[in-house]
Amino acid sequence: MLRQRADEVPEVTDEILALVADLFDTMYAAEGIGLAANQVGVTQRVAVVDVEDHPRMVLINPVIVEQEGKTRSEEGCLSIPDLFGDVDRAELIVVETTLLDGTRQRNELKNFPARAVQHEIDHMDGVLFLDHLGVLKRRMLLKKWKKLRKGTTGYLKEASPASASGP
Ligand code: NI
Repeated sequence: MLRQRADEVPEVTDEILALVADLFDTMYAAEGIGLAANQVGVTQRVAVVDVEDHPRMVLINPVIVEQEGKTRSEEGCLSIPDLFGDVDRAELIVVETTLLDGTRQRNELKNFPARAVQHEIDHMDGVLFLDHLGVLKRRMLLKKWKKLRKGTTGYLKEASPASASGP
């Protein structure tokens, strides 16, 4: 799911409203600041973001229509806990998104809120923050991940030929 490109939402239905509520609940329970639908197994272009000093955001079919500048800062992700890395993002973005009432709205975002939205839109395209890191850094983090997750289950549980043919 995390590696799939999520589908456009054709219409804001009751199911989408329920999904948004569920995303907020799940995000707050996990003490996260952003969560995309494909992180909870729904491949739709929906995400929520709640960062400090900014009203919380619902992103449905979001599109970045303008971007400017570059800034580097540390990111993590609820789907790959315990891993962090410095990621370059646009400093300022204008994002167009569908609101819960179905209308489209443009928002100009700067710095951290802009970073969080870029991270969530990446999720909708099957991209993880790890993909923005250099090869060596990524390899190091994945090694750490495997060590930390040994024997545990989760969305990113490693599938090996052995486990696939097991009972
Ligand atoms: Ni994430």
